[in-house]
Amino acid sequence: MEGSSSKLFVTSLLMLLAISSSLVAMASWPLSTEFIKTSCRSTIYPRLCFSSLSVHANLIQTSPRILASTALNVTLKSVRSTCSVMVELSKSRGMSHRELGAMKDCVEVLGDAVDQLQRSIGEMGKLKGSNFQMFMSDIQTWVSAALTNEDTCTEGFAGNAMNGKVKTIVRGRIVNVAQLTSNALALVNQFASLHA
Ligand SMILES: *[C@@H]1O[C@H](CO)[C@@H](O)[C@H](O)[C@H]1NC(C)=O
Repeated sequence: MEGSSSKLFVTSLLMLLAISSSLVAMASWPLSTEFIKTSCRSTIYPRLCFSSLSVHANLIQTSPRILASTALNVTLKSVRSTCSVMVELSKSRGMSHRELGAMKDCVEVLGDAVDQLQRSIGEMGKLKGSNFQMFMSDIQTWVSAALTNEDTCTEGFAGNAMNGKVKTIVRGRIVNVAQLTSNALALVNQFASLHA
């Protein structure tokens, strides 16, 4: 009897704990999603901004710095995966000489973008005190350069001489990474302006 009632007590206690901790998580969630939504308003693609970042609300909370870092990380991940998709696609048969050329150029410029984003993410971790402006200006330069590289890739696929399917896959992906990068740049700039 005693054993089962203490078991019941422990079970209730655990349930209470589980409920209260999920209440705490729920309470902090709207604040962070509100913050992300508001911050995303200054980007060119606010809906993509919100959908790509709100899944990280728990990490971001209401920190402009973590928001910008997360946006860069999400962008890097997406550029990387697009780059590997393109490497795979370029191995497929039936592609024209021109498509293959455009594909190879894309892989190259996207590789540069990966590099630039990686460096930016590295510098984000070093931003403090007297180094802030110097590192921030590097980050802004690199993220802009990554965006330019992605645009270069899009241009390679602008012509009509391309196979419909390859072009559609590639363009969809590139447009997505370019929009993510543009948003990340806007959030980096927003974070930078807090220190101006
Ligand atoms: C972004 O990625 C870097 C490198 O992997 C990591 O150190 C950092 O914690 C990440 N930042 C966020 C906000 O997730």
